[in-house]
Amino acid sequence: TKQKLWGGRFTGKTDPLMHAFNQSLSYDRRMHSQDIRGSIAYAKSLTKVGILTKEEENKITQGLESVEKEWVAGSFEVKEDDEDIHTANERRLSELIGPLGGKLHTGRSRNDQVATDMRLWLLDEVQEVEKAIKGLLRVLVERADNEKEYLMPGYTHLQRGQPIRWSHLLLSYALSLRYDAERLHQLIPRISVLPLGSGALAGNPFAVDREFLAKELGFQSVAENSLWGVADRDFIAEFLTWASLTMTHLSKIAEDLIIYSTAEFGFISLSDAYSTGSSMMPQKKNPDSLELIRGKTGRLFGNMAGFMMSLKGLPSTYNKDLQEDKEPLFDTVDNISACLKIAEGVISTLEVHGEKMRRALTMDVLATDLADYLVRKGIPFRETHHVSGRAVALAEARQCQIADLSLQDFKSLNGQFEEDVFKVFDFEASVERRQAIGGPSRRMVERQIFVLREFISKQ
Ligand code: ARG
Repeated sequence: TKQKLWGGRFTGKTDPLMHAFNQSLSYDRRMHSQDIRGSIAYAKSLTKVGILTKEEENKITQGLESVEKEWVAGSFEVKEDDEDIHTANERRLSELIGPLGGKLHTGRSRNDQVATDMRLWLLDEVQEVEKAIKGLLRVLVERADNEKEYLMPGYTHLQRGQPIRWSHLLLSYALSLRYDAERLHQLIPRISVLPLGSGALAGNPFAVDREFLAKELGFQSVAENSLWGVADRDFIAEFLTWASLTMTHLSKIAEDLIIYSTAEFGFISLSDAYSTGSSMMPQKKNPDSLELIRGKTGRLFGNMAGFMMSLKGLPSTYNKDLQEDKEPLFDTVDNISACLKIAEGVISTLEVHGEKMRRALTMDVLATDLADYLVRKGIPFRETHHVSGRAVALAEARQCQIADLSLQDFKSLNGQFEEDVFKVFDFEASVERRQAIGGPSRRMVERQIFVLREFISKQ
């Protein structure tokens, strides 16, 4: 009795350890729908070139549909010799419809089949990931719109720099994610290239209509070279790279929010729904959600780097190393989807403490504005920067804030200071002075919200 689909030239049995090592069914079974879809389309193309009669095609199609139903119902029975989703489906098809099942693989190889399945699978998933990014974007924009009145220090080097709106910070996150969404969308045409009809490596000898196959399966184009068709996994490398970059953005958001949720900052509190406690310290409420997002960034980068190493040094066409594309891709898709959804949940439920943010705004963050005051009187910025720096030093020596210095003090630093210098010490005014595109003023924050909403609603 025939055991393996490729068993013809073999007399010896596979070592059980080798079978376990070689098999991919334990993880590639999640592509069962894509594998069946590909086979149904391929059967149609075989009919078009006279390999199958219409009747045979119908029988095969019905058989494949039954196999798919078994997968969906969870009743598909894996047999000992099933190696991967392709061999399992074909084995089951033949059990259901008899030797006719053996006609399906005419001119086809698992090499063009698996490449087709992977692309179909990723195309489906990219749509879901796009939705998840849009969901997170929507929440960021919503909060930014509702919480425009909160002012906080903007930081460089984690040192207080200048006042900004909380919304402005949220919108900076959104802008990174907006470009991530755009980049992801731009991968689609390169994922959507049909390998089927490339055969094992040297193309299809039965003149199957590959443009027809592409149309049937919803591919945008056809792989123009069969050697490339079976071997190309650049679409996976690109996706893993895309995910790594996107994760660095989520990681930055996570890190900011972790810091802002400490008692020392107290700018925000995470909701209970996204926090966990300590088994020992009863008072603890830990931001595990955000820490896991930050941590998984390393893991997803590892998936990308590991897969790149698998590709390095491969000779042309299909090599079994390529089976190593699946676990990193599946893991990355699962984890980035989870991270995007958790980030959406964290951000939509956290509580903002506007008064704490306000209290973190010390007058020194207006030192730039003080320098700008003199600039408006015609003094070169390099000089005014120095004068403002001396005001900061003077206040520090007096152990007071720069706003507490007297007009006399200011005049001693530069004769151009007048009574209106005290108007500088107003955080709202500082933020509102930044009316150039991209600034934290209310109008420019509203502009960002408008532009992002446009982006979210299209595509
Ligand atoms: N399970 C294999 C993979 O994922 C399918 C292709 C096998 N092709 C072969 N020539 N052994 O890559």
